Amino acid sequence: MPLPPNRTAKITAVGKYLPERVITNFDLEKLVDTTDEWIRTRTGIIERRQVGDGEATSHMATAAARDLLEKRQIDPEEIDCIIVATVTPDMFFPATACLVQNNLGASRAWGYDLSAACSGFLFALDAGARMIESGSSTKVMVIGADTMSSIIDYTDRATCVLFGDGAGAVLLEACEEGNEGILDSILRCDGSGAEYLCMEGGGSLHPPRAETVAGKKHYLYQDGRIVFKYAIKLMADITAEVAQRNGLKSEDIQLFIPHQANQRIIDASVERLGLREDQVLSNIDYYANTTAATIPLGMADAVEQGRLKPGDNVVLAAFGAGFTWGGIYLRWSEVF
Ligand code: UT7
Repeated sequence: MPLPPNRTAKITAVGKYLPERVITNFDLEKLVDTTDEWIRTRTGIIERRQVGDGEATSHMATAAARDLLEKRQIDPEEIDCIIVATVTPDMFFPATACLVQNNLGASRAWGYDLSAACSGFLFALDAGARMIESGSSTKVMVIGADTMSSIIDYTDRATCVLFGDGAGAVLLEACEEGNEGILDSILRCDGSGAEYLCMEGGGSLHPPRAETVAGKKHYLYQDGRIVFKYAIKLMADITAEVAQRNGLKSEDIQLFIPHQANQRIIDASVERLGLREDQVLSNIDYYANTTAATIPLGMADAVEQGRLKPGDNVVLAAFGAGFTWGGIYLRWSEVF
């Protein structure tokens, strides 16, 4: 049967998971030469979460997925595909998506991991939307999950204050009328920025050796100033581009959900769009930068806080390692 020409993918449920352990700025003052005041004023972060012993990305992703399934009241066997956006998989292989599939008992699902750092959730959301639009799938689960504490050097004040652990999940289903859901996306990458935000060790270029461990190559490295310079421009540019391409003026956007890397980077995009504070979702203060999880966690919080209703115009934007960046426009639908 031919597909309706305008079929889109809408979000029908959201779920989240945050580990219980809270690490405050004051806790970090005891580890490195930093202050609560510096962290708050330079980043907007007050605290972040950290996994417990033995807890990894698949556990957080599974918990977020279970939260979603409970809300949507569906059986895991109804899921066609699971995409996990992450840069901190439990292992190189098998994919975290396979571990989540097994944990859930999603016996009909296939799945894979997607590596695009802080833009990972947007890239995965776009891929999932295409599966729904094409008619190849009816229920796709898109998860953003990262255990940043597993690749952070807690003696490096320039990075250890910035990141946290967490997971968020959304379910995509078809909107046959084509008037809700993911309506547009602009996604980009530029590998010339690779060296400024990366983890060099453990891959095929620098396989794990005593020297790579001694050289701290299994930790996240970031040249904060350079990344900041690109992030502040490119995230604001792509947000404006996706809004303009869809004829959205500031008053037409009910909620902007940006990646949460630094409150100052969020503010630059907000200023470019001319948005008021109540049109912006910011939760960096309590979660810090959870990499692929920031945007689905933002959605889950917005739903919990009653800040989204069917018909709302929502703009998502992200920037991260690669460099990767993107903007997505979606019209919110009824969400469980
Ligand atoms: O999500 C993926 C993408 N990542 C990002 O978008 C992050 C982009 N970068 C940033 O958000 C910011 O660059 C940082 C928050 C990482 C740093 O803020 P900044 O305003 O760019 O600070 P800076 O790197 O220019 O450092 C200013 C000073 C330096 O001291 P000197 O050289 O001026 O004496 C740093 O050594 O602040 C110092 N500093 C700190 N001081 C206290 C750096 N980190 C800390 C710290 N506590 N934790």
